[in-house]
Amino acid sequence: MTQKPYVVEELISAKSIAARVEALAKEISTHYADSEKLVVVGLLRGSFIFIADLVREINLPVEVDFLEASSYGSSTESSREVRILKDLRGEIAGRDVLVVEDIIDTGHTLKHVLEILETRHPRRIEICALLNKPSRRETEVNAKWVGFDIPDKFVVGYGIDYAQRDRNLPHIGAVRFTAEG
Ligand code: IMP
Ligand code: MG
Repeated sequence: MTQKPYVVEELISAKSIAARVEALAKEISTHYADSEKLVVVGLLRGSFIFIADLVREINLPVEVDFLEASSYGSSTESSREVRILKDLRGEIAGRDVLVVEDIIDTGHTLKHVLEILETRHPRRIEICALLNKPSRRETEVNAKWVGFDIPDKFVVGYGIDYAQRDRNLPHIGAVRFTAEG
């Protein structure tokens, strides 16, 4: 895939992320202290670093599972249906489910994923998203935990990509294009 040249400008440092993840994990641990059946579901691929750091700060027994939903790619057609490309391995009926997502943008992905998961009769589903772009929301999504609200910028790093690049940056950065593509 050809790409326009761009630079990445740091938006959230690795240190700030670590502090926020620790705080989120504390709240999550308190919230689920009495739950014996917590399953933490990471949405692939963008959440893989976030979920790895988050679960290591949660001091409860947790099961970890993953789900991959189709994305809209570069399309701006935001109401498109979301399909499951890779399903959970485990059962969630009767269980507490914490869905871990990298970014809530328009909200369509999470809305559809939750609709699909609800048909399996979990005890309750909550959402923990690292980043949230409130100004982009097109459909209501209630995330119980959000790491950072960010402006309407395209971001990369800490698991999040631009055309599969820059997932391995330790910080979150905003993409700034430097020339015409
Ligand atoms: P939504 O369905 O519009 O909420 O889209 C959410 C998904 O779009 C996220 O899980 C990301 O995979 C992707 N996405 C949204 N904003 C960005 C961004 O700034 N950088 C990289 N991926 C993004
Ligand atoms: Mg995603």
